[in-house]
Amino acid sequence: RGHGHGNGRLLGFEPVPAGSADTVVVPKGYVAEVLIPWGTPLDSRGPKWKKDASNTAAEQAQQIGMHHDGMHFFPSGRREGLLVLNHEYIDRTLLYPDGDAVMTKEKVDKALAGHGVSVVKVEQSGGRWRQVDSRYNRRVTGSTPVAFSGPVPAGHPLLRSNNKPMGTLNNCSNGYTPWGTYLACEENWNSYFGTENASWKATAEQARYGVVAEGFGYRWHVADPRFDLAVNPNELNHFGWVVEIDPFDPKSTPVKRTALGRIKHEGATVTESRGRVVVYTGDDQDGEYVYKFVGSAPWRALRALRKNPLDHGTLYVARFNDDGSGTWLPLTFGTGPLTAANGWKDQADVLLRTRTAADALGATKMDRPEWVAVHPKNKDVYLTLTNGSGWDNKANPRKPNPYGHIIRWREKHGDNTATSFEWDIFVLAGDPAYDPQVKLAAEDVFGSPDGLWFDGDGRLWIQTDVSNSTQNRPDRGHDNIGNNQMLAADPRTGEIRRFLVGPRGSEVTGISATPDGRTMFVNIQHPGEATTFWGSPTPQNPRAVSNWPDFDPAGRPRPATLVIRKKDGGVIGT
Ligand code: FEO
Ligand code: CA
Ligand code: CA
Ligand code: CA
Repeated sequence: RGHGHGNGRLLGFEPVPAGSADTVVVPKGYVAEVLIPWGTPLDSRGPKWKKDASNTAAEQAQQIGMHHDGMHFFPSGRREGLLVLNHEYIDRTLLYPDGDAVMTKEKVDKALAGHGVSVVKVEQSGGRWRQVDSRYNRRVTGSTPVAFSGPVPAGHPLLRSNNKPMGTLNNCSNGYTPWGTYLACEENWNSYFGTENASWKATAEQARYGVVAEGFGYRWHVADPRFDLAVNPNELNHFGWVVEIDPFDPKSTPVKRTALGRIKHEGATVTESRGRVVVYTGDDQDGEYVYKFVGSAPWRALRALRKNPLDHGTLYVARFNDDGSGTWLPLTFGTGPLTAANGWKDQADVLLRTRTAADALGATKMDRPEWVAVHPKNKDVYLTLTNGSGWDNKANPRKPNPYGHIIRWREKHGDNTATSFEWDIFVLAGDPAYDPQVKLAAEDVFGSPDGLWFDGDGRLWIQTDVSNSTQNRPDRGHDNIGNNQMLAADPRTGEIRRFLVGPRGSEVTGISATPDGRTMFVNIQHPGEATTFWGSPTPQNPRAVSNWPDFDPAGRPRPATLVIRKKDGGVIGT
C-alpha cells in the first residue's frame, strides 16, 4: 500500500495555529464533519437522543456510548464499512439530568450502558459519510456477557465472582487483527470499584493495581454490589484484559484474551513478522511498563488448527538500557525469577499478577506508556509517553516530565519478534519558551502525546491529551499549546505540523482511515470536561466549558467522531 507522492514530501498541508476556541479547526482545504455523537440511536427506529440527558439506561444501551476513544474502520466495500469504537468512560455531570449526587441502580446501569464498544455501519453517498441501519450495528457494554480464553479460563478460581463474567470497561485505545477482529483494551478498570466497608483492606495485588476503597469516586458500589470490593472481590479479576470482538458476527461473544496479560492496557497494536502476530501494549500509569506478545507460530497456521493466535505465544516486558539497547524479558512461568520456589503457581498466576511479575524481571519504569504505532515500511516501533515523574533512566530523560515524549525502537534485524532492540528519543514534547531542551519550533508546540498512528504512506499522526487541570494555563507552561490537538510528523526528517485543534475541554483520541487514505476518522472525547482554566460545568450549567458540537442552548456537549476529508478529494495530510 502507499499513496505515492513523487517528490517524497509527506506533509503538504498548511499547519493550523494553536487555539482555545470551542470548535474544531482543520487546515485550509479540509473539512471535518460530525458523525455519531454520544446518544445517537444505533438504528433509525431506535430511541432518540434527549438533550437533557433523560434517556434511560435501556435507551443508552441502544445508542452510541459516551467518551469515544480508540477506533478502527473495517472496509466492507468501496464506500462502506464498519466503524468500531471504544467508549472509555462517562462524565458524571453530563450523563444524567440531575448529576450523580444520589447514586441509584438505574444510574449505574446507564453508566455501564454508556461504556464499552459501538459497531456501526457507515456509507459514503454524495460525498458525505452517514451511519446506516445494519444488522452489524451493535453495542458491547459494561454488562454484555463475555468469555475468557488463554491461560486464565473462565472457570479459574480467581475469576469466580457473584456474577457471570460480563462487560468491558474503560476501553481506551484499541487494536485490530489481520483476521478482521477488533481489540478493545481495559485501562483504568480499578476506578469503578469501591466499598463503604471500613474493615476492607486492599491485598498487595489489589494495591499494585491501584484498587482503593474510594475508587475514582463513581460510587457504583453503593447501588450495585457487583462493584463492592468487600462483597465481590474477584470481580476485579474480570478486568485488565484485551478483549477481542468480531464486528462481522453481531451475535459473537467478546473474548478476553488472557495471554496478553492483565494491566491497565492502553492499546494493543498488532503487527506481523515471519507470519506471527506481535502485539505491543503500554500499561498507562506513571512508572509502569511496555509489553509485547509474540505468537508461538504463524497466525494462519494456528487459525487453520482452529486456535486463536492471541491465545498461543509469549508475553514480554521491555527493559530500556541507558546505552540505547533494549531487551524483551519473557513473562513465562518457570523461567527467570518466575518459579515455584519464588511463589509463582503457574502461567495463570503470572498473567493475573502481570505487574508483579514484570517487577520481578527488572522491567524499565516509564512516563505513562500509551499508544504504540509500527511504521508500515521499516517496522520501527513508536511509543507515546504522555507525561510522568521521570524515572532515572535515559529512556525517560526529563525529570519531572510534564510534557511527555515519543520514544522509538528498531527490533533486531527489523524482526518484530526479536528479543532485543535499539532505541532513541524521536521527540521531546513541550514548549521551548518554558523548556529549552525542547527542539520544536514555536508554532509546532504540543504536550502530552497519547494517540499515535501511522497512515499507509508513513505519516505519523500524534494526538494529545493534556489534562484539563493543566490545559491553557500559563502557570503550568501550557498557554502557547492551547486546546488538545492532532499533529502529523515525518519520521524521516522529524518535521511536525499541527493538523487539528479540538474544542474546549476535549481530548483528541482515536484514529483510522479508509484504505485509500482519503477519509480519516478521528474522535473528540470529553468536550466540556471540567477545567481549571475554563471553569467547571454543573448539572445546572453543563455548557460552562463547551457546547460542541450542537451548540444548542438547551443541550450539552457530546463526544463524537469527526469525518475528515480534503475538499479536492486528496489523501489526508498531503
Ligand atoms: Fe485512557 Fe491512557 O488514556
Ligand atoms: Ca489514551
Ligand atoms: Ca490519556
Ligand atoms: Ca481519555
